Order: sequence, then C-alpha cells, then structure tokens
Amino acid sequence: MILNRIEFALMNNPVRTAVQRHCEVRQLLRMGGPLKGGHVLEIGCGRGVGTELILTHFGADSVDAFDLDPKMVALAERRFESRRLPVRFWVGDATRISARDNAYDAVFDFGIIHHIPDWRQALKEVYRVLKPGGVFYAEEVLRPVILNPVIRRLLDHPLEDRFDSGRFLKELEITGLEPIQSKDLFGAFAWFMARKKAAA
Ligand SMILES: C[S@@+](CC[C@H](N)C(=O)[O-])C[C@H]1O[C@@H](n2cnc3c(N)ncnc32)[C@H](O)[C@@H]1O
Repeated sequence: MILNRIEFALMNNPVRTAVQRHCEVRQLLRMGGPLKGGHVLEIGCGRGVGTELILTHFGADSVDAFDLDPKMVALAERRFESRRLPVRFWVGDATRISARDNAYDAVFDFGIIHHIPDWRQALKEVYRVLKPGGVFYAEEVLRPVILNPVIRRLLDHPLEDRFDSGRFLKELEITGLEPIQSKDLFGAFAWFMARKKAAA
C-alpha cells in the first residue's frame, strides 16, 4: 500500500533522515554489526536514504533497492544521479521480488512490512532471495500504533492481521529466518535481526 500525502511528507524530510541515520541504523548496527561487504537488497527503499546508509554505515559492496511507489523510486534515483555508486533502483512489490533465489547477502526493511496486507508473503520472499546464512535487518511499526485512532485518521495502513513483536518473531521462525536479536520500544516500534539458516 503506497503512502498517503501526509505520510509521504513525513517520510521525505530532514527529520526522517536524522531518525533513520541516528536511531534506526544505530540500533540495527548494535544488534547485527556492519556487513562484510556483500550484495544487499533494500525493500521499500522510499527516497533512498536507507540505501545510502547501507553503503556508508553497513559497508555493503552494492545495493539493489525497490519501492512500490514510482514517485519514491524517482526520488531515490535523483538522490544518486550525480554519484557513481553501486546502486540499482526499480519499481517493485515486496510480495513478488524480482530477483533470483539466494541472490543477496542481506536484506533491509526500514519500516515497510507493516504497509503490506500479506506481510507473511513478503517475509517468504525475503527468505527466498537471501543466501543461506544471509541476514535480514528490519525496523517495524507495530499493531498498537497502526490501530491507534489518531494514526488511523491521519495515515493509510492495512488494518487487518497486523503484528506485534511476538507475532513478527514467530513468523520469522515459521518462514525459516532464525531470529538472532530483537528490541521492542514501548510495544510501538521494534528492530529485528534474523538469519536464513545455512543449508545443512
Ligand atoms: C513508511 S515508508 C518507509 C520508506 C523508507 N524505507 C524510509 O524508511 O524512509 C514505507 C514504504 O514502503 C513502500 N511500500 C509499501 N508497500 C510496498 C510493497 N508491497 N513493496 C514495496 N514497497 C512498498 C511505500 O511506497 C513506502 O515508500
């Protein structure tokens, strides 16, 4: 589900960039540490700030990134247009990722899975495109925020079958993504790091 006008504005401003850089990325780094290079995917990349941080702060060698909203992808492409960096953007859907199986060393989700009606299918796709031993980093917005009456008035989210941390962790396990670490903030936001089990 793409963002309404209010959330589009909330996601495209310097405050959002600062929160992503100084809070979300820092928390994910504390949990998982940087990567040892590698080919990385970002789902729901928005305007590409996360994509940049995956290169600069997590040390990925290259990042593929997509978003359901063509306007977001255009902003992300513009962010990188004058720089020769190993990034590639496209318009796409996290429930049908156009990538081969076992393609990526890591996948990042900066607050997108709560926007997907069939979020379990998105987790299955993350599992499919990760290499065995690959890592999934996620930052998510939880059910109490989505169902809050004020948030419901202001923003558009799917309302059925939303998750709290426990539900998300369980679903990671069911999907074959072994939770390594997680942190819940007031039952409202959460960070997760999980690993695709290496082949036996
Ligand atoms: C809350 S915004 C977060 C954007 C960006 N990751 C950030 O942290 O600034 C959620 C993003 O997910 C995208 N999105 C929603 N459903 C999606 C889907 N099924 N596949 C890919 N992207 C999706 C929206 O277009 C939006 O850009």
